Amino acid sequence: MERETWATRIGFLVAAIGSAVGLGNLWQFPFKTASNGGAAFVVFYLVAVTVVGFPALLAEFVIGRRTHVNAIDAFAELGHRNWRVVGGLAVATGFWILSYYDVVGGWVLRYILGSATGAYFDAPGEYFGAVSAGPEAVLAQALFLVVAVGIVAFGIENGIERATKVMVPSIAVIMVVLAVWAATLPGVGDAYAYFLSPDFGTMLDNAGSVIPFAVGQAFFTLSLGMAIMVTYSSYVGEDDSLPVDGGVIVVTNTLVGILAGLVVFPILFANDISPDTSGPSALFVAVASGFADLPLGRVLGVVFFGVVLVAALSSAISLMEVVVAYAVDNTSYSRPTLAGATGLGLFALGLPSAWDTAWLTWFDTIAYQLFLPLSVLASVVFVGWVLGEEAVAELRQGTGGLDTLGPVWLWTLRLVVVLGVLGTLGLGFQTLFLGSDAAIVPPL
Ligand code: TRP
Repeated sequence: MERETWATRIGFLVAAIGSAVGLGNLWQFPFKTASNGGAAFVVFYLVAVTVVGFPALLAEFVIGRRTHVNAIDAFAELGHRNWRVVGGLAVATGFWILSYYDVVGGWVLRYILGSATGAYFDAPGEYFGAVSAGPEAVLAQALFLVVAVGIVAFGIENGIERATKVMVPSIAVIMVVLAVWAATLPGVGDAYAYFLSPDFGTMLDNAGSVIPFAVGQAFFTLSLGMAIMVTYSSYVGEDDSLPVDGGVIVVTNTLVGILAGLVVFPILFANDISPDTSGPSALFVAVASGFADLPLGRVLGVVFFGVVLVAALSSAISLMEVVVAYAVDNTSYSRPTLAGATGLGLFALGLPSAWDTAWLTWFDTIAYQLFLPLSVLASVVFVGWVLGEEAVAELRQGTGGLDTLGPVWLWTLRLVVVLGVLGTLGLGFQTLFLGSDAAIVPPL
């Protein structure tokens, strides 16, 4: 009995961390930091993860473990059938995010090849420009999708889970090695200052535009707003402590992002590449130029991008599984058919992003500033205001107390998280619809 619970708990942690650690940490976090002013963004992000992301994660856990059913029926199980639309919003959000996540997954595939042949060694920046958009990117996107659809269609999730178990530690080890090497580069002091030492003046000046991205990053990286954490926690036993598990997930996930920054920024600075202009190329160009300089660069490159690929796949699959599982439950078609159809739909929606990185940025902005906050808001309002005390009772299970922490969590959820997300949405709306460079206008 004891042992079984323990095994389940590790399985849950691994699955949740596997979903959380992905392109959001390795690719997105460094460049979001760069395009939002460096260290100031990191501060907002850490605050967002702690006071908004963590309580919201626990809210999703509570829904899942209370009901032990899938994320949509969970609402009915709790006696609130109408709230199932929240599930629909989560599915739509996942579809949207996956459309461009797959494109970046394609870049990673391409970089495994590029590392093996040393193709990017002479001109990493130009190489990124050539493979990140246009026909080659479309082809790579299609390949990534084929792999992801194959896994979801035939349900070999076991394989992925096993891969994930090796993946998280190996990412950490490789990132640490790279970070140690990056620490020896010239100009590393400036890079650390840029990444880690916030300038409070800039911080306050730009708070309005930075906060929505920081909160969005917290949701994205913790895989919130898409019913994934609801689903995973539905398999957790009543004697597990949700706050402890959530804490482990949040800390591990954040550390991987920070490590990525410790690798990317020193390399960018050493190569005189301005971080705030590098955008989505930051990880690829920085790491690629690093490998070009290193002995055994090709081998390291293949290993590194291989690990990034597994991280991207395990996250993509967790996203896709929500969409496909929903379709399986609501239509009479078979799982392989629906997985294939989902793949085709994703391919079509992802075409603009694969064709031009400006589109990718646009899709990403809408996801961050609209879809994710809306979706998280809905589930948080549900848990905080509709479930209320019932949620606190569930959170207490397996913790042996939480007498004060329970109510603190509830009121954080009810007020801090709800207001924080509403504010984020408001600020996001402003950038999206009202600002001088309103992002809602698609980049044509
Ligand atoms: N968290 C993953 C990453 O950081 C991506 C991801 C997986 C995700 N599932 C999600 C993002 C659900 C938002 C919602 O790469």
